Amino acid sequence: MSISGPLGSLPIPNFIHKRLFSQSSSNRSLNINNINPHVKEAKYAVRGELAIKSEQYRAQLAKGEGKDLPFDSVISANIGNPQQLDQKPITFFRQVASLVENPQLLEKEEVLKNGLGYKSDVIERAKKLLKDVKSVGAYSQSQGAPGIRQSVADFIERRDGYSADPQNIYLCGGASAGVNALMSVLCASPQTGVLVPIPQYPLYTATLSLLNAQMVPYYLKEESQWSTDVGGMRTALKEAQKKGIDVRAVVVINPGNPTGASLAADHISSVLELAAEEKLVVLADEVYQTNVFEGKFQSFKKSLRELQSSEKNKGGKFDYIELASLHSISKGMVGECGHRGGYYEMVGFDPEVVAQIYKFVSIMLCPPVVGQCLVETMVNPPVEGDPSYPLYREEYDTIFQNLKQRAFALYNAFKEMEGVECQPPQGSMYLYPTINLPQKAIEAAKKEGKNPDDFYCLSLLDATGICIVPGSGFGQKEGTLHFRTTFLAPGTDWVSRITEFHRKFLDEYR
Ligand SMILES: Cc1ncc(COP(=O)(O)O)c(C=O)c1O
Repeated sequence: MSISGPLGSLPIPNFIHKRLFSQSSSNRSLNINNINPHVKEAKYAVRGELAIKSEQYRAQLAKGEGKDLPFDSVISANIGNPQQLDQKPITFFRQVASLVENPQLLEKEEVLKNGLGYKSDVIERAKKLLKDVKSVGAYSQSQGAPGIRQSVADFIERRDGYSADPQNIYLCGGASAGVNALMSVLCASPQTGVLVPIPQYPLYTATLSLLNAQMVPYYLKEESQWSTDVGGMRTALKEAQKKGIDVRAVVVINPGNPTGASLAADHISSVLELAAEEKLVVLADEVYQTNVFEGKFQSFKKSLRELQSSEKNKGGKFDYIELASLHSISKGMVGECGHRGGYYEMVGFDPEVVAQIYKFVSIMLCPPVVGQCLVETMVNPPVEGDPSYPLYREEYDTIFQNLKQRAFALYNAFKEMEGVECQPPQGSMYLYPTINLPQKAIEAAKKEGKNPDDFYCLSLLDATGICIVPGSGFGQKEGTLHFRTTFLAPGTDWVSRITEFHRKFLDEYR
């Protein structure tokens, strides 16, 4: 097609042709064929087809229209969203948040104390935060309020026994925003590669798709409680390098999502050794650091400092490791994911690179300020002797114990299910069992054009109202099938819904 003008007939440029003659929406600028293709490529299964369908069921039930459904409630076990599943917010956090949000209440201290049960440390904390941020309705520094960053640095120092510098702390709107900033700066070209564990939380693959960079998978070892195999990591790295991929970073999720695995200190050191040898930036996603049921959480930062001060560092081998460690208010006993707060600490980075990261986050102005305040309360909670401590301790321990109990109840149920193999719960909020499905079920899935694990999870949703996520959403070894479920939903009734469904499903396709 061409256009005629004073210079004769000219071909219509491709982009104008698409805009003018697109089938799908001729009156609009945008259509599915002309938007950013990398957005179309990105996949995010935890909020995918199944989650959408489960929300439709929920809406149907709420309107009283679901009389013919075989269930009377929808259980969202697809996403680590603690408070949506009835986890109670911790009182101290919310009381402080209420005061920073509405400082006028501070003029009525007597009412707060005697009428509403606010303790004096809540009031002091709110005043301290307001002094730092002035108002939660104001933009803060791009990197986050200085006093809050200082609290984060103090927390890291208490946790690890090594000092932390508030200049190296970046507050962010949830760990996702931190990952986005870091990845955006380090992905320089379509040949940039990042080592990502498989299975993984799909934020990483999705972000790499958006940035048109390469995901370099390394497989976690299911048979040894989903441990991180540094040998496998090295092989994946070498293979990618042979293909001309510039592998620059390695992501480690500890404790793991979806696996729940908790990394031992020697594994962390091995990853750091590989990073030193191969000049890899380490992105340590530690958002589940308080969700640990077995052993003790060890941070990458602590392991790095230990290595740096050990005999192994004679030639300064570990001096230049670039480590970014992320934490969040979304998980653990805090569960304030709707408030969008988190931080990352960067050590070992070139100051010129840091300046670009600073510029990148400045473009977004600042992370949500109430979220920043909640980060402060998370890293600096009441301690023994503080008036709010007894209630804080009770609430925190109850949430932890309930999570642990539910994790094991689910694990025990999975152990009894035919064809299901599950690693014992170690941490985070998830179990990721293998499912061995009968051939007939695999064929039935194929007939419907679905992956067998998608088919299984969809059948479970339709039969029980329970929404889980198929393993294909996180990645799994060729020829294996899994699903991920959270253990956040209260009660145990829904666990028996799964076991009953599973029995019937196997009988149907045996
Ligand atoms: C491993 C991991 N990292 C990051 C996130 C995102 O956390 P945030 O809500 O802080 O953005 C999640 C959320 O589920 C996660 O599981």
